Amino acid sequence: MSKTVTVATLKEMKKQGEKIACLTAYDYSFASLIDDAGMDLIMVGDSLGMVMQGYDSTIPVTLEDMAYHSRCVANGVMRALLVVDLPFMSYQIDREQALESAGMLMKEGDAQMVKLEGGAPMVETVHFLVERGVPVCAHLGLTPQSVHQLGGYRVQGKEADSAQRILDDARSLEQAGAGALVLEAVPASLAKEITNALTIPTIGIGAGVDCDGQILVLQDMLGIYPRPSPKFSKNFMQGCDSIGQAIKNYIGAVKQKTFPAAEHSF
Ligand code: KIV
Repeated sequence: MSKTVTVATLKEMKKQGEKIACLTAYDYSFASLIDDAGMDLIMVGDSLGMVMQGYDSTIPVTLEDMAYHSRCVANGVMRALLVVDLPFMSYQIDREQALESAGMLMKEGDAQMVKLEGGAPMVETVHFLVERGVPVCAHLGLTPQSVHQLGGYRVQGKEADSAQRILDDARSLEQAGAGALVLEAVPASLAKEITNALTIPTIGIGAGVDCDGQILVLQDMLGIYPRPSPKFSKNFMQGCDSIGQAIKNYIGAVKQKTFPAAEHSF
């Protein structure tokens, strides 16, 4: 698919059974390379707190950090959909705060969609944003901004009651108007059930091959993050002599459903 990717394109890809290839980016040069390779969605994740800034979590990341990196990435993106994270405490206080923060990322960062973490407590906020022209990507499962509440970076939804809660939240977020849903570190069987239950696309990271799309953190996918990478990521630079080729191989693996394999799933 060569034309510009929109939120509607992603929904159509789900309908057609075409997998959605997604990757994070934080600067102009990588964004250009990733976009040229044919990525469908580029995300400026608040993972930048870890991979760009060297923090232990995403919690210190500010709205200004996100707008700055989003602006840099936007300058390199011609085709992919640009999704940008709302960082910790830029949307949790109330829905008006969320709207103001999202507006800043769209106006200053050129975001085409914003992502926020959380289930039931975020449903009203998602509805409020979408009603006001802000496309929203939701994020369930392992929500890194809640790392201290979750007690670490752990797989979520392993027990029947927590799996049911994630499924119910996914349905409520879709009903509230979310245009896509990231599922992070959940059992592949749960991600499959959620994907089948929704009409909006699911984007998995550590959520098995049956999600409608896959995303990785760029530095994990290139094997250049100096700390241990999560089990669900894969170093596509291995056996590859250029970054551009590694990115193309990743896109191919997502489209052909050879990534993620069982060893990258729970
Ligand atoms: O912060 C991030 O980069 C993310 C994606 C990996 C889903 O949330």
